[in-house]
Amino acid sequence: MSIKKAYPTVLFFDSGVGGFSVYRETKKLLPDWHYLYCFDNAGFPYSERSEESIIQRTLAVCRLINGQHPLDAIVIACNTASTVVLPTLRENFSIPIIGTVPAIKPAAEISKTKHIGLLATKGTVKRHYVDELINKFAKNYRVERLGSTRLVEIAEQKIRGYSVDLIAIKDELSSWLDMSDLDTLVLGCTHFPLIKDEIQLCLPQVKHFMDPGAAIAKRIKSLLDGVDVKNQSEKVNQMFCTKHFPEELQFKKILPLWGFDSLNIIEIE
Ligand code: DGL
Repeated sequence: MSIKKAYPTVLFFDSGVGGFSVYRETKKLLPDWHYLYCFDNAGFPYSERSEESIIQRTLAVCRLINGQHPLDAIVIACNTASTVVLPTLRENFSIPIIGTVPAIKPAAEISKTKHIGLLATKGTVKRHYVDELINKFAKNYRVERLGSTRLVEIAEQKIRGYSVDLIAIKDELSSWLDMSDLDTLVLGCTHFPLIKDEIQLCLPQVKHFMDPGAAIAKRIKSLLDGVDVKNQSEKVNQMFCTKHFPEELQFKKILPLWGFDSLNIIEIE
């Protein structure tokens, strides 16, 4: 009798569809693993939400889903959440908690002009966590910080099938357009790799885009490869959201393209 190999179950969490930019790299590297993806659309956008509320919502979602599907790891595929919630999650769960934080270190390593842009949400650019990253890895660099909620909304709309407004993107990036030696851009929000081509069109001087998706996928593999998995049951690839939304039916149709079988609504307080 052949013994069926059991693969880990990994939850990806974001406020919206931005976490897809991390999930897609992981799925590419580890196609047979089991994936759950939750977007907290009732709490979207996280950009300007308070740190306390982000911590509470993230913890509530992770607890609820872990109760239904024993998880082997949680990936907080959201910079705005990762920069505040990781210690709380690590206190509450004994499984690996993998965060997504702005890739300042690799950006500093690759920039020739020592002039870097951090493009993130309004919350992330203000975080103490980010100050520390910059102090540690890019102390003598010029680091521009631009926080945008509008760009998050544009990326979200693109994935839901709406056209992308390039003029609006250019407008958001207007303060950087003339910075001719800005050679490296940290995509410090998981929504932004989804509109990277459009950002590049607006900022042709940028030579390097720091998108952490592939590095996170490798990290997940190194942490979980070979461990005893909790969920020995049937393969589940489910998506969760925290409220009904207008494009739900249309969205359900594209789920199989992303490798998910169903969309479920969960309720958190
Ligand atoms: N995708 C998220 C991030 O990486 C946040 C987007 C939002 O809800 O503002 O920061």
